[in-house]
Amino acid sequence: MFSPPKNPSAVRSIVLVGDQQRAFWFERVLGRKQNDAARRKIVESVAQERPDLVVLLGDQVFCGALASDWRRYDRLVAPWREAGLSVCCLAGNHDYYLNPKRGRKHLRSRFENQQETPWFRFEIGELLLIGLDSNRWVLGRRRWKEQMDWFADRLAGARARPEIRGVLVCLHHPPFTNCRIGWDREELHEALLPEFLSTRKTLAMVSGHTHAFERFVKGEKTYLVCGGGGGFRMSLLEGADQRHRDRCTLPCPRPFHYVRIDRKDDGLHFGIWGFDGVEDPLRSIDQFRLDYPKVEGSSKRPSGEGENSSTA
Ligand SMILES: [Fe+2]
Repeated sequence: MFSPPKNPSAVRSIVLVGDQQRAFWFERVLGRKQNDAARRKIVESVAQERPDLVVLLGDQVFCGALASDWRRYDRLVAPWREAGLSVCCLAGNHDYYLNPKRGRKHLRSRFENQQETPWFRFEIGELLLIGLDSNRWVLGRRRWKEQMDWFADRLAGARARPEIRGVLVCLHHPPFTNCRIGWDREELHEALLPEFLSTRKTLAMVSGHTHAFERFVKGEKTYLVCGGGGGFRMSLLEGADQRHRDRCTLPCPRPFHYVRIDRKDDGLHFGIWGFDGVEDPLRSIDQFRLDYPKVEGSSKRPSGEGENSSTA
């Protein structure tokens, strides 16, 4: 079973991988590529990097109810087990596909962080890393509210505690995407964005689901889509057709990729590494830095700042 880091505050490097799912037979009929070699190359490249923590952004498999899909997945990520990596995961829609209860059982049996709740948080020094389950229809109304209340409490704690300097939020579905066969998850706007925007400490929201790399900047916040772990590569709206201005200007299909984040004193340093063909060497696709805000308090909730001293 994959475990979270034993000492989160010592984590300096984090790798994010999204959408490792294989194509199912009917997708193959539609002409979607299987990409097994690319999927393996991502896994092996991450194993060689030996990050302190790997966070999976969901859709590890095509059909979460199928034991055969998960057995194949176990073989795929064997290099991570052999390297002794700490790995946590979020659930994607495909991890719940056909039978959410079975999907959850498979997730819980492989990822320690999934055993209690499908959401999680780690305090990594001055960084609060939050993982959310964006599968609202699977969680149901009561469980979804429980998660949203938990999310609000975590952010209230972050606002109140000067030692927390930055917050990174991960989830599967993207609030914003230029995907041609996908759409902005507007239900997430209403549920998540008011809290996310309530403090300057939230630096970025990172998702998968769209099998491409996208980087949007809206106001002070960055929204990344990192779905390049091996699923068939999706095409994006380009040029004047874009719903959102993408800071990544690479043509489609975008490279297979993973994201490496290095935690430094000034903030988070992002490097996106990838390739188009499996024979190609890994190359830098994008890199940027997100600084921790200098002001410790929140920009939008001055009345609540400092009142809640609960842990984040
Ligand atoms: Fe998905």
